[in-house]
This record gives sequence, C-alpha cells and structure tokens, in this order.
Amino acid sequence: MGEKHLAVVVLAAGEGTRMRSKTPKVMHELAGLPLLGHVLATATSLGASHVIPVIRHKRELLTEYINAYFPTSNIAHQDEIPGTGRAVECGLAQLPADFDGAVVVTSGDVPLLDVPTIEALLDAHLAGDFAATILTSFADDPSGYGRIVRKADGSFVQIVEHRDATDEQLEIAEINAGIYVFDAAKLRAALQKVGSHNAQGEKYLTDVASLLLADGDSVQALAIADNWLVAGINDRVQLSEVAAELNQRICEAWQMAGVTIQDPASTWIDITVQLGEDVTLLPGTHLKGFSSIGEGATVGPEVVLIDSQVGERATVVKSHVTASKIGAGASVGPFSYLRPGTDLGADGKIGTFVETKNAKIGAGSKVPHLSYVGDAEIGEGSNIGAGTIFANYDGVAKHSSKIGSHVRTGSHNVFVAPITIGDGAYTAAGTVVRRSVAPGELAMNVAPQRNLADWVISKRPGTQAAEAAQKAKN
Ligand code: UD1
Ligand code: CA
Repeated sequence: MGEKHLAVVVLAAGEGTRMRSKTPKVMHELAGLPLLGHVLATATSLGASHVIPVIRHKRELLTEYINAYFPTSNIAHQDEIPGTGRAVECGLAQLPADFDGAVVVTSGDVPLLDVPTIEALLDAHLAGDFAATILTSFADDPSGYGRIVRKADGSFVQIVEHRDATDEQLEIAEINAGIYVFDAAKLRAALQKVGSHNAQGEKYLTDVASLLLADGDSVQALAIADNWLVAGINDRVQLSEVAAELNQRICEAWQMAGVTIQDPASTWIDITVQLGEDVTLLPGTHLKGFSSIGEGATVGPEVVLIDSQVGERATVVKSHVTASKIGAGASVGPFSYLRPGTDLGADGKIGTFVETKNAKIGAGSKVPHLSYVGDAEIGEGSNIGAGTIFANYDGVAKHSSKIGSHVRTGSHNVFVAPITIGDGAYTAAGTVVRRSVAPGELAMNVAPQRNLADWVISKRPGTQAAEAAQKAKN
C-alpha cells in the first residue's frame, strides 16, 4: 500500500474515569484486543504516512503496547493541559511543520469504526473545499455526547457538549461521533484560538468547528447509518454492549463463511481467531486469542480455547484448553484440562477428568480417564490406564518422563519421573514405576495378595458385612 498524504491522530490520553479502573480505558479488552488495538489496526490500514496515538495517562503501559504491536506509529505525549483539542495539538506537533495534507482524528474509545467508513468520510472531505468534515449519528439516547447544531436549512453551525448544552440543545438527537477529517494547516491555526471557557475547563476539539466557520471556511457534518460503528465506550455498561454487538457480527461473518454456530448469543469469538469450513461450534464456547480450528471439527458445548490449535475433524467437549495443540481427528473431553504445551497427535484422545501440561502425546495414543500427564512424551498408539499420575515434581525440581509407542500401562499407575518406558512394554495395575522399563517388559511391583479367611466374621462380628459373609458361607 502506498503512503498517502494523510495523518491519523488517535486520541488516547484520557484517564477514562467513568470506567472506575486501574487499567486505562483504552487498554480494556474487547474481542481479544485492547480498545486501542482495534483503533490502531484501523488507523494503520488507511495507509497514512503518519499514525499518531496521543497518550498521557499510564503512558508507560500504553507505550509498551504500541511499540510491541504498532511499531510504525509515532507516539505523541499530551502535556498537562486537558481536553481533546489539546490532545490533537500535541499530536500535530509530531508532523513535519510543512505537512499540509488531511488529518483524520479518531478516538481510542470508539473501537468499531472501520476503514470503509473513514475512507468514505475522507472522500467526502476531499470532494469539496472543506476545512473540516465531522462524522455524526442519530442516537436513541444522545446523553453524554456532543450535540450537532444546524440551521433550519440543515447547514452545520456548531457542536455543543452535553454539559454545556441548553435544554433545547439537549433535545437534539444528532450527536458528534468524535471522528473528523481536517485540513492540517487550518486545524493547526484554529486550535491556537481554542479556549477553555466551558463546563469542564478543557480545550475542546469540538470548538474548532465553529471557529473555522467564523473564519469563513466550510465545515460539513455527515451522519452515518450504522450507529454501532461510532459507539463510544465510556463505562463498563457500554463496554459489554459493544462487546455483544461485535461478537454477533463476528459470529455472523463466520456463519457466512461456512461455520455452524448453534447459539451465537453464548458463543464468544475473539477477532483474532481463525476457523475452517464446516466447523461446528456448540453453545457456551469461548474462542480466545490466537486460536484456530480446522475444517470439520466440532467444539463445544462449553469449551474455552485460549491460544490453541484444533486440527481438522477433531472434537472437543466441555474442556478448558490453553496454549495447546489438538491433532486432526483427535478427541478431547468431556471435562479435560489442557494446560500450556499439550500437543495431542492425530486421532489421539485426552478423556474425562484428565489434566495435561507440557505433554506430547503421539498419534493414536490415548489417556482416557482420570489422569495427570505433566512433562511427558508419549509415543504413538499407546494407552495410559485409568487413574495414572505422572509424578513430575520431587518437591524441588520438575522431571520428565518418556513413554514409547504401543505401550499398555495398567490402571492406577504412578510414573515417578525421570523415567523411560520402552516401546511395546506393559505395566501391571497399581504399579508405582520408579525404574525405567525396557521394550517389551512387563513391570509390576505390587506385593502378592493375601486373603485372610473369615477375618470379617471374627473381627467385625454383628456387622451387616459379617452377617452377609456368614449367610454366603451357609
Ligand atoms: C467527545 C466529544 C463529544 C463526542 C464524543 C464522542 C469533545 C470535547 N467531545 O466527548 O462531542 O460526542 O467524544 O465519543 O471532544 N482524550 C485525550 N486527551 C484529553 C481528553 C480526552 O486524548 O485531554 C481522549 C480520550 O482518551 C478519548 C477521547 O479523547 O479516547 C474522547 O475523550 P472523552 O473524554 O471520552 O470525550 P467525550 O466526553 O466522550
Ligand atoms: Ca468518549
């Protein structure tokens, strides 16, 4: 993409007091990204020569995030003078003094704004001789937003903030979305004239509009049809409303791409997730982070998948899976807990009440019931008996175990790591395996069983057990 003669200023310096949070507002998560991540991804996609996030509150945290994920952006720091107007002024200071292109201003707390909407706004701006073009919307509940004041003929007059509005102006349903295109030079000049004589004592960006008009420049305000695209997030109620709407849109997009989603309302899919065709998602499924699901796999009901890969045709039922890989055709659950580093091979199985961690389980191998597999490598086609514990921790250090291919281990085993069990070996039920087992050997360390005749009848006389035993003998 060629760089356009365009700068995008992203306002993100505010504290976001209405969130009542230690986390700055723009770092609150929405569908797998911080609010700021959504806005910077959009800003970056416009192909501008400069993307300028303006920050102040919790600047170290924001700087770290921006440098990690949007390293080409040009961070601007707002000084102690408050207000959106001052924020833009600080942003403009990052531009070369002779920059005379268009400046798009977006807000770090308006996360659903998309590239086509900004491009349409930009086209409308460049189509005439406008000093400013303002994006607006008609809100069902305009409270909190700046109102768009127009003349009877519809031409734009000014933006009045909610807290500065008259009762009559509060009736106006058309609101300022907080998204603008400006002519750089005119914006710079107008900002110098903006004062702070308003209810919040701040330097409002919104005052630029009427100042430009007073100077004889043209300003237009254009309404958007889809209100969600400009929904601003100021508190946690709005955060959850926008999250639900975005999730519904993500689900719909995947349904159109060939994914069956039985209940979109209870299925949560981060914007970063990838799904193949003919994937089926059952209710209560949360797909988070950099997770992916291959063609024809079925996930759910009630599965949490975090940064994990599910192969084609695999099934995952009622399970919690983090930073793990599930091979093609494999099956997981119900009630499995896959912790980081689990790598289940093709057609393998991790079954009911099984916990795994840093465990490579080869193709076709099965851990079906009630087990813990930690720091282990299991070959192909092996079966781990019910109730097996890989004892990987000696109280000081972790050790690993290696189980070969086509091994059959008995129920209720403990593998005391470090240990190796060779290909084709067996272990007997109840074995505590402390020494390595060579290929083809049977390991057993269970003491020979002794049965003490009539023990119950003589030691527990008068009990129901003793009576039953006596009756069986008669
Ligand atoms: C702003 C607009 C309002 C509009 C609304 C749309 C102003 C004065 N008002 O109000 O007309 O309807 O957005 O969502 O512009 N910020 C800074 N530095 C500051 C203050 C704010 O960078 O000193 C940033 C915030 O981090 C936020 C954005 O600017 O991302 C908007 O600030 P906020 O305080 O939420 O403004 P609103 O009251 O919503
Ligand atoms: Ca806001």
